[in-house]
Amino acid sequence: MNTMSWIDNELRALEDESLERTLADTGVSRSLPGHLMRGGQTLLDLTSNDYLGLSRHPDIAEAMRGALRAKCGSGAAASRLLTGNRPPYSELEAELAAWQKKEASLVFANGYMANLGTIRALVGRGDAVFSDRLNHASITDGIILSRAGHVRYRHNDVEHLEHLLKKSDKARRRLIVTDSIFSMDGDSAPLHKLVELKHNYGAMLMVDEAHAEGVYGPSGEGLCHAMDVHREADVIMGTFSKAFGVYGAHITGSRTLIRWLVNKARPLVYSTALPPSVAAGIFRALGIVQTAHDRRNHLQEISGRFRQKLAQAGLSVMPGDSPIVPVIAGSSRDSLRLCEALERHGIAAPAIRPPTVPAGSARVRFSLSAAHSDAVLDKAAESIVSAAEEAGILA
Ligand SMILES: Cc1ncc(COP(=O)(O)O)c(C=O)c1O
Repeated sequence: MNTMSWIDNELRALEDESLERTLADTGVSRSLPGHLMRGGQTLLDLTSNDYLGLSRHPDIAEAMRGALRAKCGSGAAASRLLTGNRPPYSELEAELAAWQKKEASLVFANGYMANLGTIRALVGRGDAVFSDRLNHASITDGIILSRAGHVRYRHNDVEHLEHLLKKSDKARRRLIVTDSIFSMDGDSAPLHKLVELKHNYGAMLMVDEAHAEGVYGPSGEGLCHAMDVHREADVIMGTFSKAFGVYGAHITGSRTLIRWLVNKARPLVYSTALPPSVAAGIFRALGIVQTAHDRRNHLQEISGRFRQKLAQAGLSVMPGDSPIVPVIAGSSRDSLRLCEALERHGIAAPAIRPPTVPAGSARVRFSLSAAHSDAVLDKAAESIVSAAEEAGILA
């Protein structure tokens, strides 16, 4: 008896429902910024989270090369709690805390681990976590792992959240957690109202700024700074894999919080530190992000213009002002059909299907980057409309 045959059956079911995911070999175009190479074809890259176009910035690559040349080691070879806490970790964390106007910061291997480890360190049995239904999977997984009560409120529905907070008076500790910019919808969280509820109900507030750092705030600090609520957010999480163009993540907050996480965040304690070259790359990227005003302004302009062009053509564009522009296709099959048509027009953009998004709201998500020019995106908008017609999404 083949005890693993159930997997074949499950995979067949995924395939039949157009829900199977596969890995496609992808390279970057050396000559064209904001483009990628797939199957021998050069495609406009509207898939990546490289919001500021820094993933191929020469100064960041040089900082990483410099660390390798200085023989810092290709790997850290130990957890930070042992001997993996090499330079420039401490300088980087001091700079991150100053940038976020908080007391302290802690670098993690990636955003997934930062969310998982932090939530689990903050809450446990007898506590309650109030989480927006559209929060990132790493938040959901952190809550499940923590064994705290998982209270999901309707997306951005602060009345629903308040109703649930009222009912939770038996919880020992309460944590409200939200993405600031939602990764699959591109809209933003009602941070002012969440701060008010945090105060009224004595809850901690954690904000995941994965898609907002680099993009919002006077020096790219994120949406908490742009909305002037950074003092009230107890825990700020950000990742270096998106606008920073590198890899890794941080949790920033009070000195007490960071001291606690150094002791209790298991992905930090029980996992090897990021390679020193990566920490050096992040450090350089942080300097660039803080002064990348032109890139931020350009990104904001192209995002507004691109949204407007698609909406005017009759596509179902989800509301927001971020560089994440989702267009609803409906069924998973329709979203895949649109992707295929886009590829024929030289555009790469991912179909986002259930269970990542609710059934019936499968979509194609366009992610813009400061590396894209006005002209390239204007042409892309026209191609997207043609592709939508071909795919039968636009009558
Ligand atoms: C909102 C959000 N949080 C966390 C993460 C995880 O970050 P990382 O890619 O650094 O693991 C992501 C990445 O997709 C994200 O979109």
